[in-house]
Amino acid sequence: MAGKDLIETKSLHRGDIFKLFLLTEKFKNARYSHEKPLSGRTFALIFEKPSLRTRVTFETAINELGGNSIYLSSQDIGLGKREPVKDVAENLSRWVSGIVARVFEHKSIEDLAKYASVPVVNALSDLEHPCQALADFFTIWEFYKGYKDLKFAWVGDGNNVCHSLMLFANLCGLKMHVATPKGYEPQKEYIKLSSAVVTNDPVEAVRDADIIYTDVWTSMGQEEEKALRLEKFKAFQINAQLVKHAKPSYILMHCLPAHRGEEITAEVIDSPHSVILDQAENRMHTEKAVMAWLCGNLKG
Ligand code: CP
Ligand code: NVA
Repeated sequence: MAGKDLIETKSLHRGDIFKLFLLTEKFKNARYSHEKPLSGRTFALIFEKPSLRTRVTFETAINELGGNSIYLSSQDIGLGKREPVKDVAENLSRWVSGIVARVFEHKSIEDLAKYASVPVVNALSDLEHPCQALADFFTIWEFYKGYKDLKFAWVGDGNNVCHSLMLFANLCGLKMHVATPKGYEPQKEYIKLSSAVVTNDPVEAVRDADIIYTDVWTSMGQEEEKALRLEKFKAFQINAQLVKHAKPSYILMHCLPAHRGEEITAEVIDSPHSVILDQAENRMHTEKAVMAWLCGNLKG
């Protein structure tokens, strides 16, 4: 990878992604017998927000690669409050081999990366969720054996997950259509950097789609907007009516956690089209590849 960190998708090159996928396959195919490139190393996992998947997959991945991790919640370290991000980054760099961080403001992860001498991995910020997108594109690759001629429909909020997926779609050559309510489109920089088609019409995005993806309407940190968002996003629910417009063979993706009855119905998310558990499982395998690559000592 170009730099020492993985904090934004735009720092990745197409070649990096396929190298990470090959490494992921190697780790996935030999789950308990692969090499342990992080042996003897310790990693700090900073979480300002709750997590099931990201915390468990990083801890498990680091552990199975031979390393150890220390979970640090906001209460433990008060990133930027008890002491400046710079001091946290510089202190941690004297002890640990890498930092994985889930933060409210993207600037916190930028500052961690700026002041840490060890690799920093974005485990979700308000701007991006690159580790999620990496696992998702690996899941699509496994399912469809490539990306050629596939139509990817994102329906919902133009949020952090959407941003990372938009740039991954560009890198992987996948046509992405993003449907959001007016005013909830992805940030302009992401629209400019990607070749995604952005619309306010969910049917247009889903028509003949091979992949349908949605996420919560109210992300962590936006709780105060919940009532307004429930109202604004009503027409963007993934339900039986909407998915009729997709290809009959479509796959349904969601980064989770899901709110059944809000952004998606139980009927659709729990249908045979759903690959949500493959996505969740692949978080661990792809994160092994990221950690081994950035912080490891891989042979060859
Ligand atoms: N998809 C995801 O990042 O899940 P968590 O918030 O549970 O980590
Ligand atoms: N967009 C969601 C993703 C959760 C994994 C959030 O930021 O809360």
